Amino acid sequence: MNPLIRPRRLRTTPAMRRLVAETRIHPAQLILPLFVREGLTAPAPIEAMPGVVQHSLDSLKAATADAAAAGIGGVMLFGIPSTRDAIGSAATDADGILNRATRAVAAEVGDALVVQTDLCLDEFTDHGHCGVLDARGLVDNDATLERYRDMAVAQAEAGSALLGLSGMMDGQVAAVRDALDAAGRTDTAILAYAAKYASAFYGPFREAVDSQLTGDRRTYQQDPANRIEGLREAGLDEAEGADVLMVKPAMSYLDVLADVAATAQVPVWAYQVSGEYAMIEAAARNGWIDRDRAIRESVTGILRAGAGAVLTYWALELAAEGRV
Ligand code: PBG
Repeated sequence: MNPLIRPRRLRTTPAMRRLVAETRIHPAQLILPLFVREGLTAPAPIEAMPGVVQHSLDSLKAATADAAAAGIGGVMLFGIPSTRDAIGSAATDADGILNRATRAVAAEVGDALVVQTDLCLDEFTDHGHCGVLDARGLVDNDATLERYRDMAVAQAEAGSALLGLSGMMDGQVAAVRDALDAAGRTDTAILAYAAKYASAFYGPFREAVDSQLTGDRRTYQQDPANRIEGLREAGLDEAEGADVLMVKPAMSYLDVLADVAATAQVPVWAYQVSGEYAMIEAAARNGWIDRDRAIRESVTGILRAGAGAVLTYWALELAAEGRV
């Protein structure tokens, strides 16, 4: 038996494998999520995300300088305020922690990478929901849009170049676009978390932002069972003017990512979320998997499925390795 066709030929040496690789991880397609906590004077570890910290303003500036030096594409900032209320006032306050941090970071590295901000109320509300509540205690979609409009203008004025709309309210992209344009911020871009699922893999993030949430987000985030709905959400956000679409989480939603990437006419990114990070770190700590290979394989899979860029807590580490 002499097989005529031998695919193994292209796998014979590291040089051959490298040459025929269809997917590469380039620092420019990595985005590093960063947490900044009001009142901190030194970084504080996040137990469920070993290696990730809540930053002070100073350590945040240092981290973004490192990110710029490593050549990564951008940073996504999350703020943790010291006081919270029902409407998330700190989110729209120009002196709120996220807006202050954005101002500081944009001034420092705004030319070297894209400074992005999470546009959602959950870090800022005392009930931990992504919007404001109505008299029955349910998230009020349209009242929340008013808060997002103000939050968007505050973030744009602080220097955010790309607003990450992660709240999953209906009509949020159109509402924010309209508010930005009315404020003369026509160049501020929108990254729509178009297909964002109600996921158990956000678990460690709740510790990272000291979440006040009791209950869940299933009345606004998508049901993990639904694939077509992901395409529908992505189509709506693109039609409302989103500049970039996001699928989130990444690893359990690669089918949705591939679907959206095949049909969208804007860039499509994916967010490798806190639980995806924590799982690999925890297994590696137990000696159960090869950490470096697992990290690279996971990010490669997300890119292979169609992501143009990946938000990952390993962005700096992957870029610093210089493996392109
Ligand atoms: C909402 C937001 C969340 C994450 C990013 N933006 C939390 C949620 O929707 O519950 C999760 C990111 C992660 O888990 O790494 N502000």
